[in-house]
Amino acid sequence: MRTEPAGEPPWWRRAVVYQVYPTSFADGDGDGWGDLAGIRSRLPYLQWLGVDAVWLSPIYPSPHADFGYDVADYCDVDARFGDLASFDALLEEAHARGIRVILDWVPNHTSDRHPWFLESRAARASTRRDWYIWRDGTRDGLPPNNWRSAFGGPAWTFDDRTAEWYLHLFLPEQPDLNWARAEVREAMHATLRFWLDRGVDGFRADVVHLIGKDPALPDQDASLGEVDRVAIHDDPRTHELLRGLRRVLDEYPGERMMVGEVNLRDTLRIATYYGAGDELHLAFNFLALEAGFDPAAWRTLVETVGEALVPRAWPTWVLSNHDNPRHRTRFGGSERRARAAAVLLLTLRGTPFLFQGEELGLEDAFVPPAARLDPGGRDGARAPLPWTPEPPHGWPAPPFLPFPPEPGGRSVERQRGRPGSTLLLYRGLLALRRRSAALRDGDLQLVDAPPEVLRFVRVAAGERLEVAVNFSPEPAALAGAEGSTIMLASDDLAPGQPFAGAVPPECAVVLSPSVPAQKRP
Ligand code: NOJ
Repeated sequence: MRTEPAGEPPWWRRAVVYQVYPTSFADGDGDGWGDLAGIRSRLPYLQWLGVDAVWLSPIYPSPHADFGYDVADYCDVDARFGDLASFDALLEEAHARGIRVILDWVPNHTSDRHPWFLESRAARASTRRDWYIWRDGTRDGLPPNNWRSAFGGPAWTFDDRTAEWYLHLFLPEQPDLNWARAEVREAMHATLRFWLDRGVDGFRADVVHLIGKDPALPDQDASLGEVDRVAIHDDPRTHELLRGLRRVLDEYPGERMMVGEVNLRDTLRIATYYGAGDELHLAFNFLALEAGFDPAAWRTLVETVGEALVPRAWPTWVLSNHDNPRHRTRFGGSERRARAAAVLLLTLRGTPFLFQGEELGLEDAFVPPAARLDPGGRDGARAPLPWTPEPPHGWPAPPFLPFPPEPGGRSVERQRGRPGSTLLLYRGLLALRRRSAALRDGDLQLVDAPPEVLRFVRVAAGERLEVAVNFSPEPAALAGAEGSTIMLASDDLAPGQPFAGAVPPECAVVLSPSVPAQKRP
């Protein structure tokens, strides 16, 4: 296992992490579904792009009621994706190429086909009965409390066999585990060790803020907002459970990490999930996913993150993932805006997470109602990646969902050879970040700017870079920046040239104050 040189920040503070959604990334066996062999065949692409780590959405055996977030066995690979041998081969080759691998890990619930649940539901007297959360309903035959499932409807299903209700904060096919039971904690720790022993670099822990629950299961305040209403969020019991997970990771050498999906909309609360450096290494902050192309929202977020996390904890940044419309789609389909936002994402202080295909400037696919597969209506963002210009775009067989718009022109192959393409912009950004201590490690200071511009400097020993994002459809003057060197721009401005003083409309620039070298006459 590799370790960083002493004194260096841990790898996950400097990494750019790329989310692979295995179903729609690349198909190795020609069945129209992505798989591990497909991912492995595209590792040279990810290395060329310059990512440091990949996060694989769930690959475990699953009935796929929620696309793998319903796990039937935590210690194996779904036959759709391959097997343990193909996983080991992928991991080995990724490591050989300098790419770390983190796995999605789903602690809040299993599949209803998991042997633990089958045993639990078989009888009230089953030894595993309270590995899940079973309760009587009310005297009127209603569910035990008013909790709602994230996919709609009550968070409880009545099971005729034993005449009790079981809790599922997501689908009925995803019963919640009872983390109050020591045996459940031990069994789930063992699933982490199974993959840590195989050499994975860490985990993305699915809705990990939900694992601690008040055993009294009190009704929720019906006046709570949408996110809070779906479940009891932010229960203090979760923090002790996270410390337990952290201890498991700490048993291993090599800076194994856990990034938690903490699906709250409050940066101060999210910050508590890092504990005193003894809980999560990183926590997602989905406020960035919802900020829109809006300078005020971003300014507030950058300020809040600065106050709530720094210097104690390390932020994360994300624009797109498999649960939300792609950011280009959210920004009205504008590639210019999506590119400006990419510069922002990759120059902020913190670990950026990319979602497969955002580097191609993809928009969501239109999926006709009859072809929709996901219970949460998220198929559009999960459409297959186009690799080559001609149909079926590098897939050996037509894939399970339609491609996003303009798959030929936006394919990897086409964009690799097109100067100024969004793919080459991302590659340039990743390369700039890799060689810039200021961007990777440096402090961030916001600079006064007109309201339509977000302007900040990143500073590390001996290096200072300035970033300005102009969110408006008009050019924006940048006081005092004239003559600095353009390191990179999302559009219009050529790198290496002196900055003339205005940021083009809906454009982001990275500037270096150093005076460009004079050409000898
Ligand atoms: C969050 C995952 O990202 C999402 O895809 C899934 O449906 C829920 N958690 C339930 O596991």
